[in-house]
Amino acid sequence: MHKRMLPHHAVACLLALGTPFASAADQEVTAPEVVSAIEGVFGVNKGERRNHIKGVCALGEFVGTREAAAYSRSELFSGKPIPVVARFSVTGGNPNVPDTAKNVRGMALQFQLRSGAAHQMAMLNTPMFGAATPQTFLDLMLAQQPDPATGKPDPEKMKAFKASHPDNRAQSEYLATNNPPVSYANSAFWGIHTFKFVGKGDKTTLVRWRFVPQDGEKRLSDDELKSAGANFLEPALISRTQRGPVSWDMLVTVGQPGDPEVNPTLSWPEGRKEFKAGTLTISRAMPQKGGACEAINYDPLVMADGIAPTDDPVLKFRSPAYAVSFGKRMSGN
Ligand code: HEM
Repeated sequence: MHKRMLPHHAVACLLALGTPFASAADQEVTAPEVVSAIEGVFGVNKGERRNHIKGVCALGEFVGTREAAAYSRSELFSGKPIPVVARFSVTGGNPNVPDTAKNVRGMALQFQLRSGAAHQMAMLNTPMFGAATPQTFLDLMLAQQPDPATGKPDPEKMKAFKASHPDNRAQSEYLATNNPPVSYANSAFWGIHTFKFVGKGDKTTLVRWRFVPQDGEKRLSDDELKSAGANFLEPALISRTQRGPVSWDMLVTVGQPGDPEVNPTLSWPEGRKEFKAGTLTISRAMPQKGGACEAINYDPLVMADGIAPTDDPVLKFRSPAYAVSFGKRMSGN
């Protein structure tokens, strides 16, 4: 990718103005730059994911509906069971992050289609994302770098980030007002970006989706946050699957003209048409070390025919960022 550089004097001006987080509108952020900023916040755990490092593998299947097949020709919606390798995770690059942390949880799915192709999704337990552009994500990481004097992030930098990045606000507020789930099995997960369902004759429909747990959504109470301990999510999922399979409904929302298409921080208005596109059923879960999900790169741009990306700059940026992290961890770095 061609990187347009700011002229030297422009960089000097920005620094002289004391605005290290101000971004020049035409400066292009690169994946290696963002991954190294993530490493700056959390450190490097060799051979491990740079983000969403703490996680658990799971196996199951997905069965799509006829209604979805009317919008998308993806094999996902053939009605036949499709094997899935899943991974549930806690965000960040700290392997010891407590499961009570008020940050995001992830659900990543790899569907193994009969055609031999793969289809992947990597979702979060918030309806919106905290960055409309890769620059905001980078600035958030830069604001959290530990101060060499204290070893901790400088709260003033975080304050400055919040004041200058209104696109981070909706997700921050959601996380502040919605406690984390008691179990992955009791969490909904949103695809967040807008995608295109491509049907017969290449007819395209703009959609968003979420996976809603049939066990019901359940969050930790404020009291439970204090007593739940640091590592309950993995054993809770393993024991839940030992009692029987656990399912999520995939619900799809159909966009209308004017609905945000390329900004993952903006929700769609209420009242859009929704339909059930399928059911995900997880039947086994196991630790990620040596598990089926460990060596998968859940790249959200790996999509089989019938579902296509929009021009959302965050969606497009994720693929090279994940590739950098994957390349490092696969080569033992
Ligand atoms: C600029 C935005 C983003 C950046 C730079 C970023 C970066 C990363 C990186 C480096 C990884 C580790 C990849 C690996 O080693 O396999 C990761 C994992 C993950 N990300 Fe993102 N991410 C971004 C946005 C998002 C969004 C919008 C979502 C959800 C809609 C998301 C969901 C996830 C999930 C669920 C995982 C864990 C996947 C797994 O289990 O392997 N990320 N992210």
